[in-house]
Amino acid sequence: MNIAVVSAEVAPWSKTGGLGDVCGALPRALAALGERVLTIAPRYKAYPDAWDTGVRARIYLFGQTHEVGYFHAETDGVHHLFVDHPSFHRAGIYGDSYGAYGDNLFRFALLSRAAIEACTRVPLNGEPLGEDVIFHANDWHTGVLPLYLEALYRPAGRFSRAGTVLGIHNAGHQGTTAAHEFAGLDVSARWWPAADFDGRLNPLKCGATLARKIIAVSPNYAREITRDLGFGLEGIFSSRGRDLFGILNGVDDAWDPRTDKHLEQTYGIEDVAEGKRANKAALQRELGLPARPDVPMLGLVARLDHQKGVDLVQAAAPWLLRHDVQLVMLGSGSSALEGWFREAERTWPDKVRGWVGFNERLAHRIEAGADIFLMPSRFEPCGLNQMYSMRYGTVPVVHATGGLVDTVETFDPLEDRGTGWAFPTFSVEGLVEAMGWALYTFRGHKDAWRGIQRRGMERDFSWDRSARLYRDAYEASRP
Ligand code: ADP
Ligand code: GLC
Repeated sequence: MNIAVVSAEVAPWSKTGGLGDVCGALPRALAALGERVLTIAPRYKAYPDAWDTGVRARIYLFGQTHEVGYFHAETDGVHHLFVDHPSFHRAGIYGDSYGAYGDNLFRFALLSRAAIEACTRVPLNGEPLGEDVIFHANDWHTGVLPLYLEALYRPAGRFSRAGTVLGIHNAGHQGTTAAHEFAGLDVSARWWPAADFDGRLNPLKCGATLARKIIAVSPNYAREITRDLGFGLEGIFSSRGRDLFGILNGVDDAWDPRTDKHLEQTYGIEDVAEGKRANKAALQRELGLPARPDVPMLGLVARLDHQKGVDLVQAAAPWLLRHDVQLVMLGSGSSALEGWFREAERTWPDKVRGWVGFNERLAHRIEAGADIFLMPSRFEPCGLNQMYSMRYGTVPVVHATGGLVDTVETFDPLEDRGTGWAFPTFSVEGLVEAMGWALYTFRGHKDAWRGIQRRGMERDFSWDRSARLYRDAYEASRP
């Protein structure tokens, strides 16, 4: 099967969150199954490992012809194309300190068109991918890709066997913009109803309407977006019935405590206690926290977005920090929460560190050093950090929503089951109660704690299983 994964982010080249992780890792897992896979993303900057193919395409959009170039890299049996255009060469992927870029619809429509063109134009060690391809678009950015296929290519007899899949990583972002921008997309007005959302142009709705299959990033999220977490698109998602799948994300090999190059000391299930002790000590040293092996260390790594519920941690902090704990947080985003990180450090100097920014190495070291990982998300399509935590023997405390429900099972002391705590209601009380149980178990029931860690570490979150499910959905997405 020839598969083109088209995304605004592909790690390690570009990443602001899990979208990048998934579009980096899933293609590798598909290639390992023997599929021919190409990722297509913008060339946000000069990547040292990607070379100019010399191929150019001219694309008419927003009243002008735009020339794009294609850069190519190949790693782990996966081809990667980076679409080159001046509108991608900016400080941020989606925006800067003034907010989202005003021409994002143009930028990502250009990516979508360039991706379709690439399939027939750009040779990948010989031959282009061809028209017999599965397009896997992701989130609102490439929601217009299925529109282009239906409106421009299929009517001309092209890509007639091509499948289209829309991956839903986050229905909370839909790229909605003014209706008049539709004219810039250069498709006939008869397609407007697919994009029309209360009189505005909604690229995610467009993809959700026109992609032949839709894949949400966890089974529970696939249900939630048809009920109350579709941000207004519940009706569209439920109308897609059997075309809507939920497939859980996997964990990439870069997140394996046995081989993680960022750690002070690597470890596995057999030496988890010793490994975590060494990594905790290193984190305390590095962050200037008191070197105390026994103090429960709470970790948090997140985009500081409303979605992530970090405000709940803020509200619960006075309660949490009345206990003998250390709290280490890493994130960037909302200036209010960044401000709170700094303030919390000042208020509890020997207990709290709030690192503002994006720091891959520190994210790994927190997963390894912390005892408990906090993830009180309001909604969470899948969530990767809770899975990383379980792999690292770090016990997650999460709000029971989205993929967190599919992955974290609340500890049951009678049955001796469970891998963490998932609190049912999004509230400070919910978080506090779950944290109460977690701290009580950590301090007083060491054997039970070790059982929770072990069960988490034994869970199979490999990409291989999910990649097989993707393959089935891809095959089913052909006309
Ligand atoms: P989302 O995609 O909604 O941000 P996920 O849990 O799926 O949530 O994935 C988040 C990814 O981004 C993880 O790999 C996490 O480690 C990473 N991440 C988030 N914030 C930061 C940060 N400030 N520094 C480093 N990595 C971060
Ligand atoms: C999104 C979601 C997150 C998910 C990630 C990768 O950003 O917020 O829950 O894990 O995409 O699919």
